[in-house]
Amino acid sequence: MADHADSGSLPSWPGLMDLPGSPPRPGEVWVWSFSTTDGAHIPALEKLLDEHETLRAQRLRSARARAEFVSGRGLVRMALGRLLNRYPGSVRLSSIGNGKPVLAGDSATAALHFNIAHSHGMGLLALACHAELGVDIEKIRPVTDMDALARRYFHPNEVTKLRGLENEDARRQAFFHAWTRKEAFLKATGAGIGFGLERMEVTLEAGQPARLIQIDGCEGEAGHWTLEHLAPNSGWMGALALKAPCLRLVTGHIGWDNLSL
Ligand SMILES: CC(C)(COP(=O)(O)OP(=O)(O)OC[C@H]1O[C@@H](n2cnc3c(N)ncnc32)[C@H](O)[C@@H]1OP(=O)(O)O)[C@@H](O)C(=O)NCCC(=O)NCCS
Repeated sequence: MADHADSGSLPSWPGLMDLPGSPPRPGEVWVWSFSTTDGAHIPALEKLLDEHETLRAQRLRSARARAEFVSGRGLVRMALGRLLNRYPGSVRLSSIGNGKPVLAGDSATAALHFNIAHSHGMGLLALACHAELGVDIEKIRPVTDMDALARRYFHPNEVTKLRGLENEDARRQAFFHAWTRKEAFLKATGAGIGFGLERMEVTLEAGQPARLIQIDGCEGEAGHWTLEHLAPNSGWMGALALKAPCLRLVTGHIGWDNLSL
């Protein structure tokens, strides 16, 4: 039997037949999953990268890292090119904060927010017009040093909650709930993990809606944020963070064969 766990090719979300030609409506967020292991699309996507991205791709030693980078940046360029009515290769990207890629240019283009994540063959691209956002995805896998990682990176309340879970599977799920929610938040701000994952507390137990509980002890600030749990595929878990309400979350899987590459 084929092992699909690493293929990123069995989405639990509906397939997207084409990239939309008009942007998300205010309040709406799109999240698309895509495979980064389907090598056939890579050469066409490489042609869309700018000089800086091409150099970065060439410097990546592992084929997997290169495929993740090229797939994500290529898809962002295709999606933004479609929305801005430009050739994908001419879309100008720059970065803010600790390396968050953003659209360079005027206020019209600045209103298109996006973020990318990838893990073990599966990528996510999130897009919205009304707020900065961040997205994360992790392959659910055994974590041998889970307790040590939690002690180092989690808020004390999260460590206590994790310790209270007796079932190993529930603990692993809770660990990845917390990890993806924290990373999505730090990616939305652009700060990255240098900010300190332990400075925020998120919900992590099964059945609890994704929510930012506090940032640096402040519940008021946390209340401005929306977190969403994402389940693009049974082997992966993701999270979306944005500093605004998410009135409508639209998810889909991008099959490279459906794009005109
Ligand atoms: C952003 C960050 C959390 C991503 O972690 P990761 O789990 O390895 O990678 P993910 O797959 O989730 O995301 C990678 C994508 O996030 C985006 N990204 C990079 N830096 C980002 C930032 N500061 N904020 C938001 N998004 C960022 C990029 O699109 C990147 O993919 P690409 O380079 O292929 O385009 C991590 O790289 C980071 O913290 N970077 C900032 C640097 C920093 O603060 N370092 C301090 C180390 S203590």
